[in-house]
Amino acid sequence: MAEALYGENGFYTSAGAPRRNFRTSAHASPLWATAIWTLARRVDEALGSPESFTVVDVGAGGGELLNALSALVPRTWSLVGVDLAPRPEGLDPGVRWSDITPDGIDGLIIANELLDVVPVDVVERIDGMPRQVEVTPAGEEEIAGLVTGRDAQWLSTWWPLMEDGDRAEIGWARDDLWRELTGRLRRGVAAAIDYAADPAHDLAGTMTGYRDGRQVDPVPDGSCDITAHVVFNSLVEADDVVMSQRDALLTLGLTASPPSYDGDPTSYLSELAASGEAAELLDPDGLGGFTWLLHGVDISPVKIMGV
Ligand SMILES: C[S@@+](CC[C@H](N)C(=O)[O-])C[C@H]1O[C@@H](n2cnc3c(N)ncnc32)[C@H](O)[C@@H]1O
Repeated sequence: MAEALYGENGFYTSAGAPRRNFRTSAHASPLWATAIWTLARRVDEALGSPESFTVVDVGAGGGELLNALSALVPRTWSLVGVDLAPRPEGLDPGVRWSDITPDGIDGLIIANELLDVVPVDVVERIDGMPRQVEVTPAGEEEIAGLVTGRDAQWLSTWWPLMEDGDRAEIGWARDDLWRELTGRLRRGVAAAIDYAADPAHDLAGTMTGYRDGRQVDPVPDGSCDITAHVVFNSLVEADDVVMSQRDALLTLGLTASPPSYDGDPTSYLSELAASGEAAELLDPDGLGGFTWLLHGVDISPVKIMGV
């Protein structure tokens, strides 16, 4: 998975991949950026509007969120995109781009659909024992070695396999990345937003592939995205907030109620389009069903989200 996504000619390391192949909240509507802007202002206010305030988008992909934010935020704020992929074309020149998350951040870190593409190993229970599942670039599967060490420990704690044939994805690399990111905050909030795995129900695992907007077999040949839902239980710490995207966006002021017609067809049509976009972001069976995890350093995400 690591080679196929981030190696030479990997899916993400070739420019422009995300936009071509799938649709995230950042692609769905500018209302997404407006909600993140509201969140950022709340964090800024809670920090007492420090002289330097930074919004870091980790796994910034095509830079859609940062481009939209650059039109909204005060000039004194810094916007930083972090990605293993090259700087996207058309990114606002005021936005910094790096493959390393800066340290000592006062501000907000957003990681939208980042953790689901951090490589994981797939395992399957066979004769009572979890075994590694390997797959060739041609898509042929093979059962490999026993699961040992940190893999085994993570699996038994967070995703125990109950019956033969059950599958899981081992997510400690995601836990490590998340802890590294939250460790880069001096003061502020970090938000991880992703589709959650539910080990009690996702008995066949969750790994899948996307190519040209369609779901395909997750073949590690660099031609498709490979993603697996995120186990949030292993990420959450005391005082964190975990909520659905729907609830998060509603507390950040998004509404999807249809506009009433006031005699101006142009504004009516644009309000109607916005309410359709909001409905997509809030849809509990779609993007609204994503999980938000908010972690605060020196400020309380509970207060920020008003929950
Ligand atoms: C699914 S895309 C999401 C893009 C964007 N956040 C959005 O919502 O449209 C995930 C991005 O995370 C990047 N990525 C994966 N692992 C990363 C890491 N360790 N550090 C920085 N970026 C990473 C990938 O290159 C890819 O651009």
